[in-house]
Amino acid sequence: MTLERFDVEAIRREFPVLHQEVHGKPLVYLDSAASCQKPQSVIDAIGRFYAHDYANIHRGLHSLSERATHQFEAVREKVRGFINASDVHEIVFVRGATEGINLVARSWGSRYLGPGDEVLLSAMEHHANIVPWQMICQERGARVRVIPMNDRGELELDRLAELVNDRTRLIGLVHVSNALGTVNDVRKVIEHAHGRGIPVLLDAAQSVPHSRVDVQELGCDFLVFSGHKTYGPTGCGVLYGRQILLEAMPPFQGGGDMIRSVSFEETTYNKSPWRFEAGTPDIAGFIGLGAAIDWIERVGIEAIGAHEADLLDHALSRLDEVPGMRKIGEARQRAGAISFTLDGIHPHDLGTILDREGIAVRVGHHCAQPIMRHFGVQATARASFAAYNTRADVDALIDGIHVVREFFGA
Ligand code: ALA
Repeated sequence: MTLERFDVEAIRREFPVLHQEVHGKPLVYLDSAASCQKPQSVIDAIGRFYAHDYANIHRGLHSLSERATHQFEAVREKVRGFINASDVHEIVFVRGATEGINLVARSWGSRYLGPGDEVLLSAMEHHANIVPWQMICQERGARVRVIPMNDRGELELDRLAELVNDRTRLIGLVHVSNALGTVNDVRKVIEHAHGRGIPVLLDAAQSVPHSRVDVQELGCDFLVFSGHKTYGPTGCGVLYGRQILLEAMPPFQGGGDMIRSVSFEETTYNKSPWRFEAGTPDIAGFIGLGAAIDWIERVGIEAIGAHEADLLDHALSRLDEVPGMRKIGEARQRAGAISFTLDGIHPHDLGTILDREGIAVRVGHHCAQPIMRHFGVQATARASFAAYNTRADVDALIDGIHVVREFFGA
């Protein structure tokens, strides 16, 4: 589907969950940054797998197990193509972006971080790209340092030269901020880091569903994203790692499937990516992720991104009409999500009353408390978009906000 032919009504028909009323009002789902809805083809792929092909993978010679293994490993190749990794062995299946970062922090960190070393993160990281690094740094006597951001919600990347030093071992950076919608200039960071031989991990949970992410073109060393934010099921996600790095990393968890041989004296490990995949994974979930990638490729990620950019522009200008509106984050490069507060109205009240109008937004700190602290707020309301949203959804949000303001006499 090219942009000219982007037919949002046809897309909406593919998402059964959208066609319902909430509190007697048509559902307006503006919370895709938290988790996005699933097209029928994804739901069907999971059902079909359980109904016809289900068995455990990598463990049986019987037909069902072979079929399940074949389908599961085919998804790995699909993911490789989707993010343009150079080799299928660079695709590690994990539970989600969070587990992917924990895997790198624990496995890579335990090998390469030592006393006095530094991990450089940014001021707009999700907790998932802060806490795992704090945990491993604490254990290894290393420390976390932070690239600051300005009041527009943009990183101060001109300070990289002063922040990166001989002790910097890794830079961890969010590609698109879940709370601000800022699109970071990750190429600039990667270029700077690689100039000094430092690997870069990208949290791409909020970029992969909205734009073409090509790991070879970006040149990142690690990248993570979640299935459930990418039109796929919960419980499945991807860690991309450059093969040379993955091969040098110790296992993350021990168990079945990650070994070559086990005795009580000694265990030898499988090669990457299976070395990092202990235990039975969410097989059906990954089958669903494969169907989600097929769906995205059919619609066209570029067309999805262009459609969402139009929604974002429309939303940004309509929000400006609302008295007492404070947008949290006004980066020049942005995607996907808008955070805001309304004078005198707590975001939780805003979210509750919007829900009564059938409108789903997320309210809270968005697992990014350092961002909230930077802007001096406890919480924000956040509207976020996906392929199935329309300008009418944005208009419904604005109408809903006026209902809230009237309720509070604002
Ligand atoms: N990280 C997800 C969000 O931004 C859950 O809402």
